[in-house]
Amino acid sequence: MSMNVVNVDLGARSYEVRIGQGLIAQAGHQIAPLLHRRKVAVITDDTVAARHLMELAKAFENEGIAMTALTIPPGESSKGWEQFARTVEWLLEQKIERRDVVVAFGGGVVGDLVGFAAAVLRRGVRFVQIPTTLLAQVDSSVGGKTGINTPQGKNLVGAFHQPSLVLADIDVLSTLAPRDFLAGYGEVVKYGLLGDARFYDWLEANAVEMARGDVALRQYAVTRSVEMKAGIVSRDETEEGERALLNLGHTFCHALEKATGFSDRLLHGEGVAIGCAMAFELSQRLGLCAQEAPSRVRAHLKALGMKTDLRDIDGDLPGADALLALMGQDKKVIDGKLRFILARGIGEAFVAEDVPTDTVRALLADALAARR
Ligand code: GLY
Repeated sequence: MSMNVVNVDLGARSYEVRIGQGLIAQAGHQIAPLLHRRKVAVITDDTVAARHLMELAKAFENEGIAMTALTIPPGESSKGWEQFARTVEWLLEQKIERRDVVVAFGGGVVGDLVGFAAAVLRRGVRFVQIPTTLLAQVDSSVGGKTGINTPQGKNLVGAFHQPSLVLADIDVLSTLAPRDFLAGYGEVVKYGLLGDARFYDWLEANAVEMARGDVALRQYAVTRSVEMKAGIVSRDETEEGERALLNLGHTFCHALEKATGFSDRLLHGEGVAIGCAMAFELSQRLGLCAQEAPSRVRAHLKALGMKTDLRDIDGDLPGADALLALMGQDKKVIDGKLRFILARGIGEAFVAEDVPTDTVRALLADALAARR
């Protein structure tokens, strides 16, 4: 199968997202044209290193490129000051210079952390993303949002720093646990829901086969998702307007992630899927979209075996007011008003600045009552 190429059009900072099979094995060949000297620094995590680092090392060796690698612990707790400082200092020890290239090899945590390290190292060095999860391939590796978490909240320290190239190897998706693959699917379905009804129809027809492992369907789904993100990012790089649509489902998701302690009770992509269903339900309650829309969204997510509602989250959840308060802390709040991404139908999302708190509270109360 041939490789697909999506261009992220940002003038002098434009770059390609290459999507296809066997791209890790070709990474040396793909990255070589970016190099001023035949040396790269790779940062990855223990899980990805165990599965794929030998293959990446071989790919660089085949092209005569010296590779040095740092491995950090897997998981969200690595996305903080400690591993950030360690990464930056390691890159300095490796004598990575202004014109060198740093490689982020992993999921969203590695991509965000390494992108931020590249943004500040010597006031900015180039970096390449090789995302190894579905979520990272369709969302976090594209668009240049980089950063770390602090005790005050997630992603509160960071920079916009676009990669110079993204290599999305479809084959790595077959090494993911089914739950992780499906969590990434939450971000795929989001693109159809926010702006492409035809893609959503395609997902309804094909996503079950895709989740089972069909590689051609996976390549198309990643490509179409990246095309949508690339279009939005090239029109609104720093989220002055349209880019906010990418946060469909995320206000609910962030509140639920906080309520479940960012644990494996709820993975981020699972929260996004539930959040998308709730955003459609809220839109319907506000008379913005047809009665059938939220049920259609839930039916599709259920067909994939995904979580669609608060009743699908194990363990205790706080009450409606406490969840509302957690939404209020979301960084998308402007002047104390709740801001949501709502929809007039499938593929027709928009930013709503002043959503009535009572409607949101009632929606949450009903969803919590359905858990009993
Ligand atoms: N993940 C949302 C964005 O990149 O804007």
